[in-house]
Amino acid sequence: MAKLLEIRNLTKHYPILGGVLRRPVAHVRAVDGIDFDIHRGECLGLVGESGCGKTTAGKTLVRLHDPTGGRMHYFPLESGDGGAPFPAPVDIAAAKPRELKSAGIRHRLQMVFQDPATSLNPRMLVKHILAEPLRAMGGASRRDIDDRVIELLSVVGLTRDHLLRYPHEFSGGQRQRIAVARAIATNPEFIVLDEPTSALDVSVQAQMLNLLKSLQDRLGLTYLFVTHHLLVVRYISQRMAVMYLGKLAEIADTKTIFSHPRHPYTHALLSGIPAPDTEHKTRRIVLSGEVPSPLHPPDGCRFHTRCPFVIEICRIEEPQLEPADSEHHLSACHRKHEVEALVRERFG
Ligand SMILES: Nc1ncnc2c1ncn2[C@@H]1O[C@H](COP(=O)(O)OP(=O)(O)OP(=O)(O)O)[C@@H](O)[C@H]1O
Ligand code: SF4
Ligand SMILES: [Mg+2]
Repeated sequence: MAKLLEIRNLTKHYPILGGVLRRPVAHVRAVDGIDFDIHRGECLGLVGESGCGKTTAGKTLVRLHDPTGGRMHYFPLESGDGGAPFPAPVDIAAAKPRELKSAGIRHRLQMVFQDPATSLNPRMLVKHILAEPLRAMGGASRRDIDDRVIELLSVVGLTRDHLLRYPHEFSGGQRQRIAVARAIATNPEFIVLDEPTSALDVSVQAQMLNLLKSLQDRLGLTYLFVTHHLLVVRYISQRMAVMYLGKLAEIADTKTIFSHPRHPYTHALLSGIPAPDTEHKTRRIVLSGEVPSPLHPPDGCRFHTRCPFVIEICRIEEPQLEPADSEHHLSACHRKHEVEALVRERFG
């Protein structure tokens, strides 16, 4: 599969300001050096406990946040796809917002947030919410924008009767459909979906997942799907990445991770799934202790303070994300080759 994004050593640190001069006194290392590729047309799941940096990573990937460091190479489609021809990959981590806009990249990267009640402006009519990104992109007549807004509503299963209403007049599921319509308005290539179903009633979550799946097929979209829910990832994502305290612990095909996880943290997450049909069956692995603060992550392996299989080297040397059993299955664990046997022995 062709690459859409190549992410290398991406970091996003938030300064904590203190003292009378409001100077940085510490940094929250929310994303602290992550490497992975996103392939064109795939849905890559991103999972991990609350606070591990998933939303920060997503916002940084679409440049809603400026990265602190690292590279994010965007591989444009060649001319002929209807978009502007780009000669070479562009480092969107280094580009200024103005440059992203003038190169026609800004509108190709979008994000949908967890809660449409807060992500949609309550004082704007649906018509204006959907027209706004089209106007910002420029180049379209008022008539074109009106037509496109009606088309967008129909694509997400709403009608022109909804044009002159405010967000609060809709159900949660309908509001999220409006947020999705806004995200696809500018014909993006890549969308970060940040827990897009978590704020919805259980009864409409499946409909939203199906809508997202069908839009992906129909529009050739690439997704990063952020969630706590491993079963949702298994349903929607071909590949998945597991994040812990600002770093990636493991990345591979979703099927491979479910059948042969090669990181103790992934084993622990999978052991917590209640569904009886997971291929990976062990007793529940209950992790001891709290997740350490991203202000002061532990030395060596970030997971060593909670890992049931910690050995001396784990406290000293940081494990790199390296092939576990194939070049497509990477794990950041010194004991990646033994981990399945260790889990079977202790928790099987
Ligand atoms: N604007 C900010 N300023 C300072 N710290 C922040 C900011 N945004 C997030 N953080 C911190 O960065 C870390 C990662 O937060 P983030 O929201 O990315 O995690 P998450 O994995 O999305 O969590 P959740 O699953 O709860 O949504 C957390 O410690 C959080 O408190
Ligand atoms: S490197 Fe060590 S502490 Fe970290 S996950 Fe592997 S075994 Fe556990
Ligand atoms: Mg989040």
